Amino acid sequence: MAASCLGRGVVRLLGGLRGVGARGLAAPRLWGSASAPAAPAGSYQERIALAASEPAAFWGPLARDVLVWDTPYHTVSDCDFRSGRIGWFLGGQLNVSVNCLDQHVRKSPESVALIWEQDEPGTEVRITYRELLETTCRLANTLKRHGVHRGDRVAIYMSVSPLAVAAMLACARIGAIHTVVFAGFSAGSLAARINDVLQPHGPDFCQHPEQPESRFSPEPPAKCKVVITFNQGLRGGRVVELKEIVDEAVKLCPTVQHVLVAHRTDNKVHMGDLDIPLEQEMAKEEPVCAPESMGSEDTLFLLYTSGSTGTPKGLVHTQAGYLLYAALTHRFVFDYRPGDVFGCVADIGWITGHSYVVYGPLCNGATSVLFESTPVYPDAGRYWEMVQRLKINQFYGSPTAFRLLLKFEDSWVKKYDRSSLRTLGSVGEPINHEAWEWLHRVVGDSRCTLVDTWWQTETGGICISPRPSEEGAEILPCMAMRPLFGIVPVLMDEKGNVLKGGDVSGALCLSQAWPGMARTIFGDHQRFMDAYFKAYPGYYFTGDGAYRTEDGYYQITGRMDDVINISGHRLGTAEIEDAMADHPAVPETAVIGYPHDIKGEAAFAFIVLKDDAGDADVVVKELRSVVASKIAKYAVPDQVLVVKRLPKTRSGKVMRRLLRKIVTGRAQDLGDITTMEDPTVITEILSAYQEYKDKSGAAQ
Ligand code: WTA
Repeated sequence: MAASCLGRGVVRLLGGLRGVGARGLAAPRLWGSASAPAAPAGSYQERIALAASEPAAFWGPLARDVLVWDTPYHTVSDCDFRSGRIGWFLGGQLNVSVNCLDQHVRKSPESVALIWEQDEPGTEVRITYRELLETTCRLANTLKRHGVHRGDRVAIYMSVSPLAVAAMLACARIGAIHTVVFAGFSAGSLAARINDVLQPHGPDFCQHPEQPESRFSPEPPAKCKVVITFNQGLRGGRVVELKEIVDEAVKLCPTVQHVLVAHRTDNKVHMGDLDIPLEQEMAKEEPVCAPESMGSEDTLFLLYTSGSTGTPKGLVHTQAGYLLYAALTHRFVFDYRPGDVFGCVADIGWITGHSYVVYGPLCNGATSVLFESTPVYPDAGRYWEMVQRLKINQFYGSPTAFRLLLKFEDSWVKKYDRSSLRTLGSVGEPINHEAWEWLHRVVGDSRCTLVDTWWQTETGGICISPRPSEEGAEILPCMAMRPLFGIVPVLMDEKGNVLKGGDVSGALCLSQAWPGMARTIFGDHQRFMDAYFKAYPGYYFTGDGAYRTEDGYYQITGRMDDVINISGHRLGTAEIEDAMADHPAVPETAVIGYPHDIKGEAAFAFIVLKDDAGDADVVVKELRSVVASKIAKYAVPDQVLVVKRLPKTRSGKVMRRLLRKIVTGRAQDLGDITTMEDPTVITEILSAYQEYKDKSGAAQ
């Protein structure tokens, strides 16, 4: 690929800098083989049994063999779900960027780490492990020069690109904590994530007793001093004004001292007092940076995600356990083999991008594809043309994209050579039969293994998936099926009893800790305990429901809380309600999720207007734009219905389940409404809904 048609800062930077050679490599580490991950010994059943009964015997040797350590750990795990203490590989020290870069550069510096599939159709850039290490070191030195220290937070608001990956790894190199914010979030959401601080009154959670230095030092609070962004982004042929959004956000962020601005396009943007041209600064730096030796339980990154209540929570992932879990699941679930090209099309702003675009593949020395575009740009053949051109072996995407693509003619798939594909993966939301069949039959020509993978931001990596499993074991459509090593699922009934046997449905809990799980919520360990460990004491509650077949396979049935999943993006209905709450004409709102053909779920808002609210259409328009600017465009409710009152219990709680029944056509079966304050509200809402449907052809 000729660099001329790629242009822009990153390529200039990669091409124009002095090489690092062997002198820049971190010294070989103690106690690490730096080879491809060893397979846990024994059959699938034996490995599963060992991981469940003796986690230390299972994970200890793996961590020793797979990761490159500075200092060996002395204790494999110290976890207790009742007190919320989760620690793995205690006493060990390592650097994640060394595991993802230096160890591979030492062996094969010119092997390709990243293939950047740019938005412009048919253009790709290949970045070797050596180049990625050099870029990472220059960026790490730039961060240090601008006052970023170990334990500081760095916000990354960038589109999918090698420089964004280097930014994450640069933080890891110097022990800073990265917070990648999806570049589709609004200035308000970005500012909220930058401003999040440790609560001074938080319980004494941050330090593991075995590693008193671990996590972040509470004094002073881990400030976010630096934001890294691009001048602009490109997506689906459109320019996204990333820098403008950052400008707006940092006005609200007193701790931000510098904004490092890289160039994705040749367009000039306004550079203010805080702004520093990133590539120019990097060019001044050495391509060598000594890695910080980090404790296993030091924080690697924060990633914000939505829950049922309150603002998005910053989940804390730590170094060794997370990396090990991402690397192993990447290898075993997808059947990754050295030399493969791994294509995960997720954005790096989500956990899927963290674990299966960046950390898992790079720790395994893989070639990882960075997909900057959309599935339908310039046409519905984009993914498959890319598969053909890049010879992708594993393709990992979302049901939303598959549902969108199957509406087009099969010829958009068939005209491209997909013979390189071995594994197809799906993540983020339940995959319906039509999408599963299409992916299997049309994309995979009925010969690829299709893995429906269930996991969460909180779990760090895949927890339930059809593979790994015994050779030739069956794979059933639309089922995540089998727990991975160390994952022990339990289904609970409404009273908190463990459900035994097959053909049962209940709340999906995990009864045992695994290395990849989040350790806490940034600044609020009590919230972590309340959100995940309170409903079923001694168990991690996922928030999802699941069904277990007679054969012991798991099928995820969906969220059991007030979280909705729009195109695979998690959102709390309360977040949308809160965003609308500031509108002076709207005293009350209730938001629910309803099934949507393509997006999986969409938001439906019921709003009550004040008597003097004026034109309802104007208010609705304002509400939509408030949600877009406070959260993100994808959070804007598809449907907004004005009602006189909301259905409430006598104690004043909004009964969202009744609204859900109305919108999904199940109003005849409202269930128990004896606690309702005034049942006539239902008739009122039903008739308003009927009128709305007649007028606008609303959701069924
Ligand atoms: C949902 C994404 C059904 C689930 C990695 C979970 C799924 C939430 C699946 C986490 C799947 C994820 N089948 N539902 N294969 N994968 N989910 O944190 O509700 O963005 O709790 O992590 O997505 O979303 P998150």
